[in-house]
Amino acid sequence: MIRLENVKRIYTRHGQTVTALQCENLCISAGEYVAVIGPSGSGKSTLLSLLGGMLSPSSGRVWLDETSIYEQSVVARSTIRRERMGFVFQTFNLIPYLTALENVQVPLGLNGVSLPDQTARATAMLQRFGLADRLNHKPSEMSVGQQQRVALARTLVNDPQIILADEPTGNLDPTSREVVLKAFDMCHEEGRTIITVTHDATAAARAKRRLVLNEGQISEELSSFAKVA
Ligand SMILES: Nc1ncnc2c1ncn2[C@@H]1O[C@H](COP(=O)(O)OP(=O)(O)OP(=O)(O)O)[C@@H](O)[C@H]1O
Ligand SMILES: [Mg+2]
Repeated sequence: MIRLENVKRIYTRHGQTVTALQCENLCISAGEYVAVIGPSGSGKSTLLSLLGGMLSPSSGRVWLDETSIYEQSVVARSTIRRERMGFVFQTFNLIPYLTALENVQVPLGLNGVSLPDQTARATAMLQRFGLADRLNHKPSEMSVGQQQRVALARTLVNDPQIILADEPTGNLDPTSREVVLKAFDMCHEEGRTIITVTHDATAAARAKRRLVLNEGQISEELSSFAKVA
């Protein structure tokens, strides 16, 4: 379970203060598939960064089960991120000078997996995403859809319980978008928690719960209440 408790995130720039997010209580249970929607600047990425241990709140707490993650040391927090969370971004964030295989091996190396096991697991994950014949290609030598599949393989190779995605289908053609959404469906069936920020109505419709952000305030989309009732 992930929970925001009285969280406020303020940015101050050039003497101007912006309350990017304000939330008394938000609970996301293990295994939920949640889409975060809302206009540009409404605080979606801020929410995702707070949940992912990447941005400390100005006040309040972010809980992961029994742990208040911003009251941990930086090292403990990065261990939580590495062991339990997987991130997917619109811009993929692949390392340009590494091959597809090496990119997918990176998180395994950070977790102390031996080199032969890294190669085996990364290869298997890339095969699962239809990239068996692109193992030695660098990001610049692959299509955008292929790059996003490499990024997905890298995210999933560590078996994260929680997947946080910011506009994962934003740059993709319909076929590649479907590959990403299918992967999320599968992750959901496997019991992982998925929290995805999206402007894409099709992608949002695939989630089981939708949170709407407006000027830093979070509300549940009404149709998700209707489904529960
Ligand atoms: N580093 C920062 N410094 C100052 N203000 C920021 C910073 N990051 C975000 N903001 C402000 O906080 C608010 C929320 O930003 P955020 O990036 O969370 O929005 P978003 O919903 O993800 O938007 P988009 O859909 O365009 O990605 C915006 O008004 C933005 O200008
Ligand atoms: Mg954003």
